[in-house]
Amino acid sequence: MTRIIDGKAIAARITDELADKAGRFTDIAGSAPCLAVVLVGEDPASAVYVRNKGRMAERIGFRSVQNTLAADTSEADLIAEIEALNTDPSVNGILVQLPLPAHIDETKIIELIAPEKDVDGFHPINVGRLNTGDFDKALMPCTPAGSVILAKDALGDDLSGQHVVVVGRSNIVGKPAAQLFLAENCTVTIAHSRTKDLPALVKTADIVVAAVGRPEMIKGEWIKPGATVIDVGINRVDAPEKGEGKTKLVGDVDYAAASEIAGAITPVPGGVGPMTIAMLMTNTLKAAERQRDCK
Ligand code: GUN
Repeated sequence: MTRIIDGKAIAARITDELADKAGRFTDIAGSAPCLAVVLVGEDPASAVYVRNKGRMAERIGFRSVQNTLAADTSEADLIAEIEALNTDPSVNGILVQLPLPAHIDETKIIELIAPEKDVDGFHPINVGRLNTGDFDKALMPCTPAGSVILAKDALGDDLSGQHVVVVGRSNIVGKPAAQLFLAENCTVTIAHSRTKDLPALVKTADIVVAAVGRPEMIKGEWIKPGATVIDVGINRVDAPEKGEGKTKLVGDVDYAAASEIAGAITPVPGGVGPMTIAMLMTNTLKAAERQRDCK
């Protein structure tokens, strides 16, 4: 029987524990951990993500600051906003929702966020710390960190020797996921659009991490029987079967077929997605504890 990895339940356990820890932090520090989220523009999907992050932060006793700036905000104004958050001692974590409008240099903005407040783990200092294994100082990217926890839920805490094939090489998911699984003593292969014979490579994986952003690209017959499948994709596609104009979310893996073959698999929605927010909250508390030096 294929095990469905219940990301929603695992994330709820993590956020329940964080609520307790946040309460203790607030008692000791005199103020709650604070997450500031900056959204530029009105992209509806980004607005939903940002709202969900703010709601979760408040639910577990954090302070949530949400700054929504107009789509035509200048790069200079966004820089000023981030510099103000960097120097505000009451703000512990800063997240700038991506993608940014085309007239703003995303790399420049990411590099401007104070590394100790970079709860996305995207700043080159945090990327470097992840790559050198300096986990005491690093803040880890949320989706990859959540993916490792889900793999451990299926396979146990010791992942050493597992062959992980990460499909996708983005800075946000693919590359950091590869580093995190490497740190768990896995053997890691990163596959991408130029990889030769991707189906054959995926077939060698004990753990498949699908992070390509293409709906149901990874087919059931590519999966080795019994393998663990972590599907990072969240793709909105037409769903005429639900009625005219209706849509649904699907992952990067053909779930119906893969779940017949895999040993364990994450659903979409309800798999990696909820873990991303849980890890963002984990990073925010971690950042707050480091800044106030109270654990
Ligand atoms: N846009 C989509 N995913 C993310 C994320 O994890 N962090 C940020 N900042 N923006 C995103």
